[in-house]
Amino acid sequence: MAKLGHEVVGIDVDVRKIEELSAARAPFYEPGLEDLLREVQETGRLSFTTDLAAAAGSAVHFICVGTPQKKGENGADMTYVDAAATGLLPYLSPNDVVVGKSTVPVGTASRLAELLQAEQPDAHLVWNPEFLREGHAVADTLHPDRFVYGVSDGSEDHPAVAVLDEVYSSPLASGTPRLVTDHPTAELVKTAANSFLATKISFINAMAEVCEAAGADVTQLADAIGMDDRIGRKFLNAGIGFGGGCLPKDIRAFMARAGELGADQALTFLREVDAINMRRRSRVVELTRDLCNGSLLGKRVTVLGAAFKPESDDVRDSPALSIAAQLQLQGAVVTVSDPKALSNAARRFPELNYEADTSAAAEGADALLLLTEWQEYRDLDPYALMELVSAPRILDGRNVLDAAKWRSAGWNYRGLGRP
Ligand code: UDX
Repeated sequence: MAKLGHEVVGIDVDVRKIEELSAARAPFYEPGLEDLLREVQETGRLSFTTDLAAAAGSAVHFICVGTPQKKGENGADMTYVDAAATGLLPYLSPNDVVVGKSTVPVGTASRLAELLQAEQPDAHLVWNPEFLREGHAVADTLHPDRFVYGVSDGSEDHPAVAVLDEVYSSPLASGTPRLVTDHPTAELVKTAANSFLATKISFINAMAEVCEAAGADVTQLADAIGMDDRIGRKFLNAGIGFGGGCLPKDIRAFMARAGELGADQALTFLREVDAINMRRRSRVVELTRDLCNGSLLGKRVTVLGAAFKPESDDVRDSPALSIAAQLQLQGAVVTVSDPKALSNAARRFPELNYEADTSAAAEGADALLLLTEWQEYRDLDPYALMELVSAPRILDGRNVLDAAKWRSAGWNYRGLGRP
């Protein structure tokens, strides 16, 4: 927002994050974010504080807090959204616009709009879902695919539409389309988009299961069906499945919310999407046991990748770490390596061994598992690695290595959904 030319104050309850951000340091790894922070810090348009009173005087207030999965339940934990919205109320002026960015159960916006009405009848609530991907957050934010504005009456003439158009004037001018709709539709756009993406991944992973049984190659299958424009090749990479702070919890929260609305039957397929996804993790454990001649006991397994995806240090619901932990539970001695996510991983799974240096991590391994497709793992040299490991076995959990090259270097190479 500051880059777009606005005066921005960022508020958070986490003192450490505010201290880091005030020093133009990103509190997590995200490519390009620190450069951007430094650039806008020089303009003086961006400041950070833990004091919610700093919201007073702003014309537009974005609520961007998390909606994690509730402990032991499928629904979303709305504590943070509710606290942010209620905390903001005393600082609102007439005509202010409150913008919801968080991914929420449908119906939240109408509930918050009522709260707002009671306190500040002349303020407006817009639901404006966020579609950025971790690892591409800066580009996705500055050049989004689309804007969706959910306003109370669903009308282009709603006064908040012009306010948001001004906020986003620069990306709108460069052609980003925007769609104005009502509150529930805007909330559902986000949930539906993530459910579709999750379904696409589980679809191809289901095909991978069939390919494994039939001796076919899911990568070629994806290439071929992806050439049909109606299907498209993106998000058809079979492997160890999806993780992270969004897709897994969003499909579960969506099912829970549909249940509350009496529409649970409509989303039973998402239960299968989730089940296929979780099965990939067990499949990798099984294949690793196969690779290690039928037993994991005492075997040294090196897991390359801890983050749920490359270019991120996020380990929330990371399939790589969940597989590493299962292997360790079944008697393997597991060492995990990752270019960025090791400290986050060690906090969540202190029982695993960690080694930042790839060669040191591979030393003496009975099996290598490539589970997060960082570029440096895609570029690994099979000949150099051969000298380090105890046995040349590799499981390519993301199907990113050249199987023929690794095999000709003498490796026992296994992909997922490939012969
Ligand atoms: C997702 C949505 O893409 C984004 O639009 C939304 O705003 C937030 O949720 P993100 O969680 O950052 O973004 O990651 P994404 O790129 O969607 O990947 C999610 C998971 O799916 C990762 O674990 C990734 O490895 C996996 N994935 C992705 C696959 O297994 N196969 C694919 O083909 C694509």
